[in-house]
Amino acid sequence: MTAPAPAHTSRAAQVLSRPLSINGLTVSNRIVMAPMTRAFSPGGVPGADVASYYSRRAAAGVGLIVTEGTYVGHDSAGQSDSIPRFHGEEQLAGWAKVAEAVHAAGGKIVPQLWHIGMVRQAGQPPYADAPAVGPSGLRLDGSAGSGKEMTQDDLDDVIDAFVEAAVAAERIGFDGVELHGAHGYLLDQFLWAGTNRRTDAYGGDLVARTKFATEIVAAVREAVSASFPIIFRYSQWKQEAYDARLAETPEELEALLAPLAAAGVDAFHASTRRYWLPEFEGSDLNLAGWTKKLTGKPTITVGSVGLDGDFLRGFAGEGAPLKSVDDLLDRLEGGEFDLVAVGRALLQDPEWAAKVLAGRTGELKAYDAAALGSLS
Ligand SMILES: Cc1cc2nc3c(=O)[nH]c(=O)nc-3n(C[C@H](O)[C@H](O)[C@H](O)COP(=O)(O)O)c2cc1C
Repeated sequence: MTAPAPAHTSRAAQVLSRPLSINGLTVSNRIVMAPMTRAFSPGGVPGADVASYYSRRAAAGVGLIVTEGTYVGHDSAGQSDSIPRFHGEEQLAGWAKVAEAVHAAGGKIVPQLWHIGMVRQAGQPPYADAPAVGPSGLRLDGSAGSGKEMTQDDLDDVIDAFVEAAVAAERIGFDGVELHGAHGYLLDQFLWAGTNRRTDAYGGDLVARTKFATEIVAAVREAVSASFPIIFRYSQWKQEAYDARLAETPEELEALLAPLAAAGVDAFHASTRRYWLPEFEGSDLNLAGWTKKLTGKPTITVGSVGLDGDFLRGFAGEGAPLKSVDDLLDRLEGGEFDLVAVGRALLQDPEWAAKVLAGRTGELKAYDAAALGSLS
């Protein structure tokens, strides 16, 4: 006979195991795999190893997988030939097999659709001649570099590229899409005053700066089925500018999120580096918590879940302080946010979700950056 699981472990399993619906898509539990660029797709084609990498995690209990960022079909969208693309016959055939494998393993999966904008360095593959484009041709550090301020034609082309990718995602069997509006990439470059200096309708105050992302959401919403979920990922922080902020107050955050929600976002993925940090003074709510409170939409939290020692020991029940685990479960159970994305801990340990859900927490593996080197 097996020993009964410690009380806190059963609570974790109980809280995390509840299903959740996002615009009719039922996710079987609250554990999401965070999008993580891996660059193991030569020619932009995800192969059998990528399919196994994701399906292994679905088989081990991850409720929803958000794939690594994958380039939409615009020449300036990316800068690596081994990061998967979400356009082209061979590439989409590869992705169809990824979705099929994840479904066969009992999981759900959405691609993260990505355009890197002004992060692009000139001369890089897959389209070496393509310029870096952005709202004002500015890099994240404010320098002009060789960037190009996007014209209305450029904006229309990029909107079309996101729409085509989302339509393809539905056609080849994905369960929804996530639009990458975070971390200083193209959509975020429009949202952030540091990179958006436009004087036309796409620049100016916070609401004006949401116009481009909002148009993408609305165009995608129009082109896919009404029940096909659209998740929008955003962040305050940027690559190279960890202290950057889009919104200094809840009112500003509401101004940012309301147009996106109205355009058809079904769930928000609020990217933070440490999920437990309060977003604004005077409240314990984190960014996902505020996002849910202000929009009423389901939200995903993220940031160092399963990485700190207390969290691991808390799950393992070795007498260490349980604050981190209980804090996360309390917030989830209290409805502050709905889903918890796990990045590096899941990269390290494909069985992370199964171990947590089954109370085999003593077997969780500590994160080691060496995990970045393979697709295991
Ligand atoms: C190797 C690696 C690649 C990442 N690539 C992406 C990406 O393609 N898109 C994205 O939105 N975030 C990306 N992130 C951020 C993660 O999705 C996540 O927000 C971050 O790692 C924090 O979660 P964690 O502490 O659980 O790892 C990446 C993170 C890592 C470690």
